[in-house]
Amino acid sequence: MKAFPSLIVALLFLNLLSADATLEETCKQLAARAGVHFDVNFCITTLQVVPGSNKADAIGLTSIIANLANTNITHNLAKVEELLNSKNVSAESKKALGVCEEAYNKGAEDIKEMTEALKSRDFLTVKSRSSALLTNAFTCVSAWAESKLEPLMPEEVDDAYKISDLAFSIGASLPDR
Ligand SMILES: *[C@@H]1O[C@H](CO)[C@@H](O)[C@H](O)[C@H]1NC(C)=O
Ligand SMILES: *[C@@H]1O[C@H](CO)[C@@H](O)[C@H](O)[C@H]1NC(C)=O
Repeated sequence: MKAFPSLIVALLFLNLLSADATLEETCKQLAARAGVHFDVNFCITTLQVVPGSNKADAIGLTSIIANLANTNITHNLAKVEELLNSKNVSAESKKALGVCEEAYNKGAEDIKEMTEALKSRDFLTVKSRSSALLTNAFTCVSAWAESKLEPLMPEEVDDAYKISDLAFSIGASLPDR
Protein backbone atom coordinates (compact mmCIF):
# COMPACT_ATOMS: atom_id res chain seq x y z
CA MET A 1 0.00 0.00 0.00
CA LYS A 2 2.94 2.28 0.45
CA ALA A 3 3.76 2.71 -3.23
CA PHE A 4 0.16 3.41 -4.04
CA PRO A 5 -0.29 6.99 -2.78
CA SER A 6 2.92 8.14 -4.45
CA LEU A 7 1.72 6.66 -7.72
CA ILE A 8 -1.48 8.63 -7.37
CA VAL A 9 0.46 11.77 -6.62
CA ALA A 10 2.64 11.14 -9.68
CA LEU A 11 -0.39 10.60 -11.88
CA LEU A 12 -2.06 13.70 -10.51
CA PHE A 13 1.05 15.68 -11.21
CA LEU A 14 1.26 14.42 -14.79
CA ASN A 15 -2.37 15.23 -15.24
CA LEU A 16 -1.90 18.75 -13.93
CA LEU A 17 1.06 19.22 -16.22
CA SER A 18 -0.88 18.38 -19.32
CA ALA A 19 -4.23 19.85 -18.36
CA ASP A 20 -3.05 23.12 -16.92
CA ALA A 21 -0.03 23.87 -19.05
CA THR A 22 -0.89 27.02 -20.92
CA LEU A 23 -0.46 27.13 -24.64
CA GLU A 24 2.50 29.40 -24.14
CA GLU A 25 4.23 26.92 -21.85
CA THR A 26 3.53 24.08 -24.23
CA CYS A 27 4.86 26.10 -27.15
CA LYS A 28 7.95 27.12 -25.20
CA GLN A 29 8.71 23.47 -24.54
CA LEU A 30 8.15 22.49 -28.16
CA ALA A 31 10.17 25.37 -29.58
CA ALA A 32 13.04 24.68 -27.18
CA ARG A 33 13.75 21.33 -28.82
CA ALA A 34 16.98 21.22 -30.79
CA GLY A 35 16.82 21.99 -34.48
CA VAL A 36 13.19 23.14 -34.73
CA HIS A 37 12.21 25.52 -37.52
CA PHE A 38 9.41 27.40 -35.82
CA ASP A 39 9.46 29.79 -32.91
CA VAL A 40 7.26 30.17 -29.85
CA ASN A 41 5.15 32.85 -31.51
CA PHE A 42 4.46 30.78 -34.59
CA CYS A 43 3.35 27.92 -32.34
CA ILE A 44 1.09 30.15 -30.25
CA THR A 45 -0.51 32.02 -33.15
CA THR A 46 -1.04 28.74 -34.99
CA LEU A 47 -2.69 26.97 -32.08
CA GLN A 48 -4.62 29.73 -30.38
CA VAL A 49 -7.12 29.95 -33.23
CA VAL A 50 -8.29 26.44 -32.35
CA PRO A 51 -10.78 26.41 -29.46
CA GLY A 52 -9.70 24.07 -26.67
CA SER A 53 -6.10 23.83 -27.83
CA ASN A 54 -4.96 25.28 -24.49
CA LYS A 55 -6.60 22.35 -22.70
CA ALA A 56 -5.60 19.62 -25.12
CA ASP A 57 -3.15 16.92 -24.11
CA ALA A 58 -0.35 15.76 -26.42
CA ILE A 59 -2.70 13.44 -28.31
CA GLY A 60 -5.31 16.17 -28.74
CA LEU A 61 -2.66 18.66 -29.83
CA THR A 62 -1.23 16.24 -32.36
CA SER A 63 -4.68 15.81 -33.82
CA ILE A 64 -5.25 19.59 -33.90
CA ILE A 65 -1.93 20.21 -35.63
CA ALA A 66 -2.50 17.37 -38.09
CA ASN A 67 -5.76 19.08 -39.09
CA LEU A 68 -4.07 22.46 -39.48
CA ALA A 69 -1.24 20.90 -41.46
CA ASN A 70 -3.79 19.24 -43.69
CA THR A 71 -5.48 22.57 -44.44
CA ASN A 72 -2.07 24.08 -45.16
CA ILE A 73 -0.82 21.30 -47.43
CA THR A 74 -4.14 21.06 -49.26
CA HIS A 75 -4.10 24.80 -49.87
CA ASN A 76 -0.49 24.70 -51.07
CA LEU A 77 -1.19 21.80 -53.36
CA ALA A 78 -4.05 23.69 -54.99
CA LYS A 79 -1.86 26.75 -55.43
CA VAL A 80 1.02 24.68 -56.86
CA GLU A 81 -1.35 23.10 -59.37
CA GLU A 82 -2.73 26.48 -60.34
CA LEU A 83 0.81 27.76 -60.98
CA LEU A 84 1.71 24.61 -62.90
CA ASN A 85 -1.22 25.34 -65.19
CA SER A 86 -0.34 28.99 -65.61
CA LYS A 87 1.06 30.10 -68.94
CA ASN A 88 3.32 32.80 -67.56
CA VAL A 89 5.27 30.56 -65.19
CA SER A 90 8.69 29.60 -66.53
CA ALA A 91 9.70 26.02 -67.25
CA GLU A 92 12.39 26.27 -64.54
CA SER A 93 9.83 27.35 -61.98
CA LYS A 94 7.56 24.56 -63.07
CA LYS A 95 10.34 22.11 -62.34
CA ALA A 96 10.46 23.26 -58.72
CA LEU A 97 6.66 23.33 -58.61
CA GLY A 98 6.58 19.75 -59.87
CA VAL A 99 8.83 18.66 -57.00
CA CYS A 100 6.55 20.49 -54.56
CA GLU A 101 3.47 18.90 -56.08
CA GLU A 102 4.84 15.42 -55.56
CA ALA A 103 6.13 16.21 -52.07
CA TYR A 104 2.83 17.77 -50.96
CA ASN A 105 0.87 14.84 -52.34
CA LYS A 106 3.02 12.54 -50.23
CA GLY A 107 2.67 14.91 -47.28
CA ALA A 108 -1.13 14.80 -47.55
CA GLU A 109 -0.87 11.01 -47.45
CA ASP A 110 1.39 11.23 -44.38
CA ILE A 111 -1.16 13.39 -42.58
CA LYS A 112 -3.93 10.94 -43.41
CA GLU A 113 -1.94 8.03 -42.04
CA MET A 114 -0.94 10.07 -39.01
CA THR A 115 -4.56 10.82 -38.19
CA GLU A 116 -5.55 7.16 -38.61
CA ALA A 117 -2.65 6.01 -36.44
CA LEU A 118 -3.56 8.55 -33.79
CA LYS A 119 -7.06 7.12 -33.58
CA SER A 120 -5.70 3.64 -32.96
CA ARG A 121 -3.06 4.99 -30.55
CA ASP A 122 -0.30 3.68 -32.81
CA PHE A 123 2.18 6.36 -31.74
CA LEU A 124 5.17 4.83 -33.51
CA THR A 125 3.37 5.27 -36.82
CA VAL A 126 2.32 8.79 -35.83
CA LYS A 127 5.98 9.60 -35.21
CA SER A 128 7.31 8.07 -38.41
CA ARG A 129 4.58 9.71 -40.49
CA SER A 130 5.11 13.13 -38.95
CA SER A 131 8.80 12.74 -39.65
CA ALA A 132 8.00 11.85 -43.28
CA LEU A 133 5.70 14.87 -43.46
CA LEU A 134 8.51 17.15 -42.30
CA THR A 135 10.85 15.65 -44.89
CA ASN A 136 8.27 16.15 -47.62
CA ALA A 137 7.59 19.76 -46.62
CA PHE A 138 11.33 20.36 -46.66
CA THR A 139 11.66 18.83 -50.12
CA CYS A 140 9.62 21.73 -51.50
CA VAL A 141 11.68 24.30 -49.58
CA SER A 142 14.91 22.85 -50.92
CA ALA A 143 13.57 22.54 -54.48
CA TRP A 144 13.24 26.33 -54.55
CA ALA A 145 16.59 26.85 -52.84
CA GLU A 146 18.35 24.61 -55.34
CA SER A 147 16.61 26.23 -58.31
CA LYS A 148 18.10 29.63 -57.30
CA LEU A 149 14.84 31.11 -58.59
CA GLU A 150 12.62 33.56 -56.80
CA PRO A 151 10.18 31.23 -54.96
CA LEU A 152 6.64 31.71 -56.26
CA MET A 153 4.78 31.11 -53.01
CA PRO A 154 7.45 31.63 -50.34
CA GLU A 155 5.20 32.26 -47.35
CA GLU A 156 3.01 29.26 -47.99
CA VAL A 157 6.01 27.02 -48.54
CA ASP A 158 7.57 28.27 -45.32
CA ASP A 159 4.33 27.92 -43.35
CA ALA A 160 3.87 24.33 -44.50
CA TYR A 161 7.42 23.56 -43.43
CA LYS A 162 7.01 25.15 -40.02
CA ILE A 163 3.65 23.58 -39.34
CA SER A 164 5.04 20.18 -40.36
CA ASP A 165 7.88 20.70 -37.93
CA LEU A 166 5.34 21.59 -35.26
CA ALA A 167 3.49 18.34 -36.02
CA PHE A 168 6.76 16.44 -35.83
CA SER A 169 7.72 18.04 -32.52
CA ILE A 170 4.41 17.39 -30.83
CA GLY A 171 4.36 13.87 -32.28
CA ALA A 172 7.79 13.25 -30.81
CA SER A 173 6.43 14.07 -27.37
CA LEU A 174 3.94 11.19 -27.53
CA PRO A 175 4.80 7.96 -25.75
CA ASP A 176 6.27 5.17 -27.88
CA ARG A 177 3.32 2.91 -27.29
C1 LIG B 1 -0.93 27.64 -42.82
O1 LIG B 1 -0.46 27.67 -41.50
C2 LIG B 1 -0.03 28.93 -41.04
C3 LIG B 1 0.43 28.75 -39.63
O2 LIG B 1 -0.60 28.29 -38.82
C4 LIG B 1 -1.17 29.93 -41.12
O3 LIG B 1 -0.71 31.19 -40.71
C5 LIG B 1 -1.69 29.97 -42.53
O4 LIG B 1 -2.82 30.82 -42.57
C6 LIG B 1 -2.09 28.59 -42.98
N1 LIG B 1 -2.50 28.64 -44.35
C7 LIG B 1 -3.62 28.04 -44.76
C8 LIG B 1 -3.94 28.20 -46.18
O5 LIG B 1 -4.32 27.40 -44.01
C1 LIG C 1 1.74 36.26 -64.28
O1 LIG C 1 1.14 37.39 -64.80
C2 LIG C 1 0.52 38.24 -63.85
C3 LIG C 1 -0.21 39.33 -64.58
O2 LIG C 1 0.59 39.89 -65.58
C4 LIG C 1 1.57 38.77 -62.88
O3 LIG C 1 0.97 39.60 -61.93
C5 LIG C 1 2.24 37.60 -62.21
O4 LIG C 1 3.26 38.06 -61.36
C6 LIG C 1 2.78 36.63 -63.23
N1 LIG C 1 3.26 35.45 -62.55
C7 LIG C 1 4.49 35.00 -62.72
C8 LIG C 1 4.83 33.78 -61.96
O5 LIG C 1 5.31 35.52 -63.42
